[in-house]
Amino acid sequence: MIAAYSATSQARVNAALETLFNAPSPELARLYEAMRYSVMNGGKRVRPLLAYAACEALGGKAEQANGAACAVELIHAYSLVHDDLPAMDDDDLRRGQPTTHKKFDEACAILAGDGLQSLAFSALLDSRLNAADAEIRLQMVSALAVAAGPAGMVGGQAIDLGSVGLKLDQKALEYMHRHKTGALIEVSVKLGALASGRAEKDELKALQTYAQAIGLAFQVQDDILDVESDTETLGKRQGADIARDKPTYPALLGLDAAKAYALELRDQALHALRPFDAAAEPLRDLARYIVDRRS
Ligand code: IPE
Ligand code: IPE
Ligand code: MG
Ligand code: MG
Ligand code: MG
Repeated sequence: MIAAYSATSQARVNAALETLFNAPSPELARLYEAMRYSVMNGGKRVRPLLAYAACEALGGKAEQANGAACAVELIHAYSLVHDDLPAMDDDDLRRGQPTTHKKFDEACAILAGDGLQSLAFSALLDSRLNAADAEIRLQMVSALAVAAGPAGMVGGQAIDLGSVGLKLDQKALEYMHRHKTGALIEVSVKLGALASGRAEKDELKALQTYAQAIGLAFQVQDDILDVESDTETLGKRQGADIARDKPTYPALLGLDAAKAYALELRDQALHALRPFDAAAEPLRDLARYIVDRRS
């Protein structure tokens, strides 16, 4: 993966995230430990990378997007903790380690997820992490609330769970994927762009087109990897979707057509970035990475 850019960005977001898990009292040590465990465990940090890359594409400095980067990763980590619970996908392995409810317990995992969600919004409003104007910070909080909530990721998860065993058509599958995964990827780009303090309307529109395409491509590739990768590489159980009869792109279209669709979405994303100069190269690399990745 676009090695140098990603290593620098991962180190940057990890350092910022690391500051957020100090328990204010000994009684809360276990809760904070569970939150820390759920976040500081080696995720790819794709959403923070997108936030940094969008900020830089508009001429901002990556550091300006620290609050955005932390916020989207915290929402993502919370969504994974809850996604893995027995009442949802019931998975025991995440990022190569026991899922949070296995390492701690279910109640603790539910609360850790809840806590991470709140911390995400605090991160956006923390002046050490986000120095944008108050007006811009309000836009960021509002965009994240919509993307994470029932009109975004949570809505997509509800559709996912309500669709087990059903045969969705492509339109319904796309709707689900755009919500459960696409919404958070889209807002990662938007928050990064807003953090630059230089986002113009037409640039935001082009970045949105880019982000919608890679957001869908990301989940299509996730579905493909569930079929053809292995547990060791993935850090989560291979074949979990198949075992649970989840509606996925390979199940609907077949593996080859799903792969072709992912590439088509990548090309749509690259096309949307045509108006941007070399500062958008990390965003272009990320679009390629999202469909080439093996984990
Ligand atoms: C997995 O996301 C869940 C989806 C939304 C498909 P990632 O593949 O980004 O997982 P991590 O953060 O690297 O563990
Ligand atoms: C997860 O989708 C989307 C979320 C909002 C967490 P999946 O259920 O496909 O994610 P994995 O495969 O468990 O990582
Ligand atoms: Mg799921
Ligand atoms: Mg899952
Ligand atoms: Mg999956």
